[in-house]
Amino acid sequence: MVGFSGFTASGSPKAVPAALAQRARDERAAGREFKFKLLSGASCGKADEDLGAAEALSWRAPFQSAKSLRNAINAGKVAFMDMHLSDVAQKLEFGFLGEMDLAVVEATDITPDGRVYLTSGVGITPSILRVAKRVVIEINEAVSKRLYEMHDIARLLPPPHRSPIAILDPLDRIGTPFAVVDPKKVVGVLRTNQPDGNEPFSPPDAISTQIAGHVEAFLVAEMKAGRIPPQFLPLQAGVGNVSNAVMTALGQSQNIPAFSMYTEVLQDAQIALMRSGRLLGASTCSLTLSDAVMQEVYSDMDFFAPRIVLRPQELSNNPGVVRRLGVIAINTVLEMDLTGCANSTHVMGTQLMNGVGGSGDFTRNAYLSILMAPSTAKGGSISTVVPMTPHVDHNEHSIQILVTEQGLADLRGLGPTERAETIISKCAHPMYRDALRAYTRSCAPAHLRQNLETAFAWHLNLARTGKMLPT
Ligand code: COA
Repeated sequence: MVGFSGFTASGSPKAVPAALAQRARDERAAGREFKFKLLSGASCGKADEDLGAAEALSWRAPFQSAKSLRNAINAGKVAFMDMHLSDVAQKLEFGFLGEMDLAVVEATDITPDGRVYLTSGVGITPSILRVAKRVVIEINEAVSKRLYEMHDIARLLPPPHRSPIAILDPLDRIGTPFAVVDPKKVVGVLRTNQPDGNEPFSPPDAISTQIAGHVEAFLVAEMKAGRIPPQFLPLQAGVGNVSNAVMTALGQSQNIPAFSMYTEVLQDAQIALMRSGRLLGASTCSLTLSDAVMQEVYSDMDFFAPRIVLRPQELSNNPGVVRRLGVIAINTVLEMDLTGCANSTHVMGTQLMNGVGGSGDFTRNAYLSILMAPSTAKGGSISTVVPMTPHVDHNEHSIQILVTEQGLADLRGLGPTERAETIISKCAHPMYRDALRAYTRSCAPAHLRQNLETAFAWHLNLARTGKMLPT
């Protein structure tokens, strides 16, 4: 088993993964098998793509977003373990995932006594440095040496020695600016000079802008109703274009005060908001910034370093801290159903998209949990509001608010029947509303009304005809 540093492409090693992919290709050409298990903080950008294409992996956890690897996982060639990201480091340290043979860690520096100064994504790096039998360090010279000013590396001791986590504000620091390694384990140090290579986001489209508008109006109404305090509450926002659009809209809103974030990834939109004074500060696990925006941060560390804290994911996503701070969590899903459950990972309940990532850490524990999606996919052939999702990542016990470009369903306090009608009337696309109501009428009276004969009929139609409903 190999462990990689970082979180997304940010902070992931650059040279060793490419060499491992080449090794796998060479060995296969020579008629020998070369495969390993890979654990990292989340996805690892180009490394996942290269290793997937080279068929170098036998097992992967906890998240990925690479086409080649996704295809291999869905073909049953790579075992994939989809995990809540807050939980990965402790599962590794408890020994639940097996022994780690090698850790490959990107850093800005390592000292003779074993201080490792990390780069743009922290992930589970402090844990892999602790448990791996051998360690290789990649010193990336393209990265600002001042990144340590953002790092807050703390360790959670195993139970029963675990103390309360003293994070009372997103910018509180409880650790050191470096991780540590036993220098005797370091078998190699090499130098790279390569930016992370995160792609910039496309400008918000009409659907994302409508979703963002509903979220903004809802949060403003919550403030007026006194359910969000005047100083606001820390926000978490997932990855992707919709999320970027929502953050932009909240940042531009005249009716929402300047806010802070307790989140797992910081994207380009948040850096612009920090510049304009709308985002006061952020705790995160990763700077998932396009290369140009990352350069902007590196060139003004006097401004950005005091405003950003980079933590290991067991702290950036810690359920206890998320609950204590009263985080407002905003994430994207593939589909939602009439009971208020949502699927963010498996198309047709079988085909992995990316993984649950940190969405469960935040949705389950947030003060307000908001999940969103466009109301249709694939040009309208798919309704993202369905009778029953064939896979559940977030259930009705955790989800409070569902949003599509059609509107926002506030499910707080509603019983199952009212929930179903609210989701249909607020979130479903008009062309699917009658069919959804026909489905609810077909269900026998019960606490949760489901018709097990037809609950997945729409998905079966899609598989057979390419459309959920005949037109
Ligand atoms: N059924 C089938 N396909 C669907 C679908 C559905 N219900 N909903 C969306 N899709 C397809 C889209 O058509 C698109 O396909 P394409 O790539 O062939 O164009 C693809 O899924 C991605 O959809 P898109 O609307 O572009 O979504 P996105 O980039 O906003 O990502 C998730 C949405 C759910 C995949 C993404 O947010 C995710 O991986 N979430 C889980 C992890 C997470 O929430 N992390 C947050 C903490 S940082």
